[in-house]
Amino acid sequence: MKSVRLVAAAFLALCGAAAANAPAPSVVPYPAHLTPQAGEFTVDATTPIVFDRADALAAAYFVDLLRRSRGIALHRRTGANAITLRRDPSIGGTEAYRLDVTPHGVTISAGRSAGVFYGTITLWQLLTQTPGKSPRLVVPAMHIEDAPRFAWRGLLLDSVRHFQSVAFIKSFLDAMAREKLNVLQWHLTDDQGWRLEIRKYPRLTQIGAWRVPAGGQGDIDPKTVKPRLYGGYYTQAQVREIVAFAAARHIAVVPEIEMPGHAMAAVVAYPRLGSVPNPPTAVSSDWGVFPYLYNVDDKTFAFLEDVLTETMALFPSAYIHVGGDEAVKDQWKANPAIQAKMHALGFADEDALQSWFVARIGAFLKAHGRRLIGWDEILQGGVPPDATITSWRGIDGAITAAKAGHDAVLSPAPVLYFDNRQAEGANEPSGRGAIVSLGDVYDFDPAPTSLSDAERAHIIGVQANIWTEHIREERNAAYATFPRAAALAELAWSPAAMHDHADFFARMPAELDRYAAFGLPHGPLAADPAPLSPTIRDSHELALCSSAIVLSIEGPQPFTGPRPVFLHDIINPCWIWKNADLAGVIQIALTAGLLPFNFQIGADAEKVARRPAATPDGEFEVHLDTCDGAKIATVPMSQPSPGTGLAAARGPLAPQAGVHDLCFVFTRPALDPYWALHTVELVH
Ligand code: ACM
Repeated sequence: MKSVRLVAAAFLALCGAAAANAPAPSVVPYPAHLTPQAGEFTVDATTPIVFDRADALAAAYFVDLLRRSRGIALHRRTGANAITLRRDPSIGGTEAYRLDVTPHGVTISAGRSAGVFYGTITLWQLLTQTPGKSPRLVVPAMHIEDAPRFAWRGLLLDSVRHFQSVAFIKSFLDAMAREKLNVLQWHLTDDQGWRLEIRKYPRLTQIGAWRVPAGGQGDIDPKTVKPRLYGGYYTQAQVREIVAFAAARHIAVVPEIEMPGHAMAAVVAYPRLGSVPNPPTAVSSDWGVFPYLYNVDDKTFAFLEDVLTETMALFPSAYIHVGGDEAVKDQWKANPAIQAKMHALGFADEDALQSWFVARIGAFLKAHGRRLIGWDEILQGGVPPDATITSWRGIDGAITAAKAGHDAVLSPAPVLYFDNRQAEGANEPSGRGAIVSLGDVYDFDPAPTSLSDAERAHIIGVQANIWTEHIREERNAAYATFPRAAALAELAWSPAAMHDHADFFARMPAELDRYAAFGLPHGPLAADPAPLSPTIRDSHELALCSSAIVLSIEGPQPFTGPRPVFLHDIINPCWIWKNADLAGVIQIALTAGLLPFNFQIGADAEKVARRPAATPDGEFEVHLDTCDGAKIATVPMSQPSPGTGLAAARGPLAPQAGVHDLCFVFTRPALDPYWALHTVELVH
């Protein structure tokens, strides 16, 4: 907040006050213009709050935030020294507001209800800069003029790969609102499940919402004597409840109905929708990219239009997201009827066919007053008319779209993929192996330099995605989201000229205290790795031998409660303890998990390292100095305990002198399942 400090310093110099370097108030995202003034205002339970009926929702939300976080209950009444919410039509912009704190009261003015709402959020943050409940809260006098940099300030929540409760989604929306985020892209359909009740097609949720979890074949339900199914779906009543809850917080819920790919659950439910004669009969629990695409015949379009009609009735959002990513075209290439249609339509390839597919859906949405948005792959084969793009394969899709006059949202992997873990260390919950820290997110630049100012105006916002392949538990979905969502919110709301890494980090402890007041799980501000033990290491404290597809993931057990997390490259599970002191070490002890190989990675599966096993469950091997070096220990493995998800084993280690690198690998009776190291101990 360099410019804020300058303004503050200038003002304080004029007043002859000290502390020209007073820190910026702990507001996140930081307001566009904040000018400190002389004096302060005190809020306690006697402070009146004044508002008209039109702002009753915002007032109630503010009163509730203050009561829950600080134990102060304000009441609507007239009187002096009040907090006043008022409309001022001269304030343009749907989300803009003005906030004045004087020694005699606080006034929040805005042209529209969203502006009033955001003004109250800012006031609540100004009142909660120091932790703990208190009967009196003091806020310094100031003048704020604020409006967001971007209209689309989004998070994507994947409720397919793992399913979250309605209560969790509400708490997630609440946490978004407290950081002025305003779009929830709700990922509701995918290969691994269909989660939205569609009345006309009940099999979508009767069949498509349920799967046998990978490695869960041992979790037998005594009632059915079959594996317990994983899944769930949102009824239309629940969806209405969530959409209304979000709207009260000025959040638009944008449903994502994937097409033409990521369609396996729908094709399992209604095989006639598919592009192959004999599609699978059960929803898969594999992660990755499946080849199942919708057909392009009129019956399939009728289905999609029916689904979208029910979807539009539930979601009033201006945009409907239709996915469009990762649609590998093998099935369209192999299907003679689809090829005939492609040629009859005069298209040279399947990308053009996809563009036609998306354009046809876009025209349907447009006829119903909605706008189509899709992942950047929908640019292949020509941008469908009026389409807005979510750019995830870097920002190139957004640049192409903007240059072609289309709007775009920046959501690039890996930096805005919040399924990547936030920090090193054994205590981070499961996720992708790459580390995307809070600072990494804050440093993302949402203003591509290759665009002209006019083109840049097509960048309507930023969005971070919480994909949940590797995030099974709700609390870990929140943990992955926060505090990185705060950095995203500041990128999305605050002016580029205010961007200041150190200032942001100085404001974040107060934000973490606010999270704590609501019991919101969250990651760290910065990595604080535990000191390494000289004799025992977790997989997260070892080096990996390679980095093809690095994941930090759970195994399938125990069936309920927290599970151990294993850091490894799924293509080559192999770990190195650098510079191990082997003096006096006579044994090696380890714990390991047996993980399902449930990854759709196409031909890359051929590349998976497979060392032949000598015993039924395979062996753990220790190699000296390098992975091809002398084998100094071989420890046969046996099945993990279902209660812990871990197998413990130990065996002699050929005595060595001095300090060496140790390479750890497992032999492997089959591709699936495979061993992943949890801890290893050098025993003296
Ligand atoms: C995506 O990550 N496939 C949008």
